[in-house]
Amino acid sequence: MAFSARHLLGIENLSRNDIVSILDLANQYVTLNRQAHKHSDTLAGLTQINMFFENSTRTQASFEIAGKRLGADVMNMAMGSSSIKKGETLIDTALTLNAMNPDLLVVRHPHSGAVDLLSEKVKCAVLNAGDGRHEHPTQALLDALTIRRAKGRLHRLSIAICGDIAHSRVARSNIFLLGKMENRIRLIGPKTLMPSGIDQFGVEVFDDMNEGLRDVDVVMMLRLQTERMDGAFIPSSREYYHRWGLNAQKLAHAKPDAIVMHPGPMNRGVEIDGDLADDIHRSVIQEQVEMGVAVRMAAMELLARNLRASNNGGIDV
Ligand code: NCD
Repeated sequence: MAFSARHLLGIENLSRNDIVSILDLANQYVTLNRQAHKHSDTLAGLTQINMFFENSTRTQASFEIAGKRLGADVMNMAMGSSSIKKGETLIDTALTLNAMNPDLLVVRHPHSGAVDLLSEKVKCAVLNAGDGRHEHPTQALLDALTIRRAKGRLHRLSIAICGDIAHSRVARSNIFLLGKMENRIRLIGPKTLMPSGIDQFGVEVFDDMNEGLRDVDVVMMLRLQTERMDGAFIPSSREYYHRWGLNAQKLAHAKPDAIVMHPGPMNRGVEIDGDLADDIHRSVIQEQVEMGVAVRMAAMELLARNLRASNNGGIDV
C-alpha cells in the first residue's frame, strides 16, 4: 500500500497512488460490511475521538460505525455542550484531548483551515470531516469509489458537478480528485454560485443545465448551502429548481446510463426531483452512503498503520 501520509486533511496533496490505495482497501471493506459478522480487530486498542463543530448526520454516523467495526474505542464529543461554549479556543480543546492520548481525531469545523491548524498541535492522526468551504476528503473518496464501481473505471469520464459550487467543500475535493484521475469536469450552476478563478482548475463552466449535461457519464448534484451565504445568491428556490434543479427532462441530455449522485442532505424539489433521487435505476445516492463507511474504514486503517510505524520507529531510536 502506497499511502504514507500522517493525516488526511484534503485531496489536494494526495497522489494518484494514495487515492487508489484507499479505494482498493475500501473495496475489501464493502465486502466485509455486507456480511452478517462485520467486525475486525484492525484498530483494537486505539482510541478515536469524533469532534463535530457543525451539524452532521451521515458523516458522523459513518465515522462512528467505521471505527466500531474496526474495533477502536470511539468517543463522540458533544461539541454543543463542550467548553468551547464557555470560551475555550479550538486549540485549547485540542490540547486537552491530546493529553488523553487519542490515536485518531476526526474533526468537522465551520472554518476553512481549522482542521489543518489543529493537526499541527496534536500527536495523533487527524482526519478532516469537512472544514468550511475548503475540503471534505472522505466525501470525494466515497464519491470516487461509487463512480468506479458503477462505471468500472475512474478515468476518462465526463462528470458534471451542479449547483452551489462556490460554498461547497464537496465540489472542491471532487475537483481535485477527479482531475488527478484525468476526467473531464464540467461545473454547472448560476454565475453567482461559481467561485472566482475557477477556470484555472481545468474545468468547463456552464450556466445552462441542458447544455452542460450533454453526454456526461455522471451527474453530481449539490445542496444550496444557505448557511454559508451572506445575502441572496438566487432569486428564489422555485426559480432555482426551474433552472438548475435536476429532473428527468434535464437528465435526458446526459448519456442514457448516466448515474445521479448527491452527498446529502438533499433538498427535494430544490436541487433535485424527489422521484429521480429515489429511482434505483439512475440514482446511486444510497450506494454513496454505503461506500462512505468502507472508505472511512480504509482511511483510518492506513493512517493507523503509519502511526504504528512511526511509534515503533520512535522506540527503536
Ligand atoms: C456535505 C457537507 O457537509 O459538506 N454533506 C456531507 O458531508 N454528506 C454537503 C452538504 O452539507 O451539503
